[in-house]
Amino acid sequence: MDIQDNLTQAIRTLTHAGIKTASLDAKILLEKAIGKDRSFITAHGEYDLDAKEQVVFLDLLEKRRQRQPISQIIGKKEFWGLDFEVTKDVLTPRPETEFIIEAALSLFKRDEAINILDLGTGSGCVILSLLHEFKQAKGFACDISHSALAIAKRNAYSLDIQNAEFIHSDWCKNLDNNFFISKLGNRGNLDLIVSNPPYIPQPERLGLDAELSYEPENALFAGENGFDCYENIAIGIKDLNFKYAIFEIGINQENKIEEIFRKVNIRLIESLKDLAGITRTLIFQKL
Ligand SMILES: C[S@@+](CC[C@H](N)C(=O)[O-])C[C@H]1O[C@@H](n2cnc3c(N)ncnc32)[C@H](O)[C@@H]1O
Repeated sequence: MDIQDNLTQAIRTLTHAGIKTASLDAKILLEKAIGKDRSFITAHGEYDLDAKEQVVFLDLLEKRRQRQPISQIIGKKEFWGLDFEVTKDVLTPRPETEFIIEAALSLFKRDEAINILDLGTGSGCVILSLLHEFKQAKGFACDISHSALAIAKRNAYSLDIQNAEFIHSDWCKNLDNNFFISKLGNRGNLDLIVSNPPYIPQPERLGLDAELSYEPENALFAGENGFDCYENIAIGIKDLNFKYAIFEIGINQENKIEEIFRKVNIRLIESLKDLAGITRTLIFQKL
């Protein structure tokens, strides 16, 4: 069957499965199956897939029909203009998380030698994008998941980012002041802490998109009300020396999260809205 007929059938199959991005997804899967780029697919509708390509395409299509995220099927996702390897062990980087990078760029100049800590690094998309921007910076990235840390390290390697250190830690349990003094000298001063922690309340799990069931549980859910991780992070960072902290938050979580950090003398200085007008990113300063 040729490209055009494959695309027509695939779009029908994916639309029937309730996938809103059926046309785009079908093209991405076809690119992967035949190892050609978008311009080839657009220009060569009459190209006949050989038997092997056809089997591969139908296999990829079936995975997507079962609502596996496209990023996991093709094994990568673009974030901040960089390609990140993605597997079932890490959250797929989301466009709204790019606001953390924008916020950091509003606080520091690109050539500053800042020290950055990323809590819950997952694929490493946040810390590695920051280190890509702040070439003189030093990054520390922690996660509770060993498999996520392995992916983050691979992403650092393929992006040729060498100034990142990866640490296995349950939030700040292995990251106290003595750790940073041993790494950075002086008072162990950090300039910036960033985190996109899990923030979905457990009771909301039933109403979520089917794709989320393929992502790691501990990257998504945070107790009954979604605030457990912020509470733990607030306790963990309150005794660290740092200037600013930037967090991604869930819908309508701003007031409660502001209160959680205010209680430990970390003050909200700015809230950023995403393109849909939802407050997604909070910038805090340590008092
Ligand atoms: C929402 S994901 C964010 C991943 C990545 N930073 C991003 O923005 O795409 C949250 C991450 O926090 C990690 N995590 C969950 N609980 C943790 C804990 N107690 N300590 C450290 N990391 C944790 C998860 O493994 C996951 O990688």
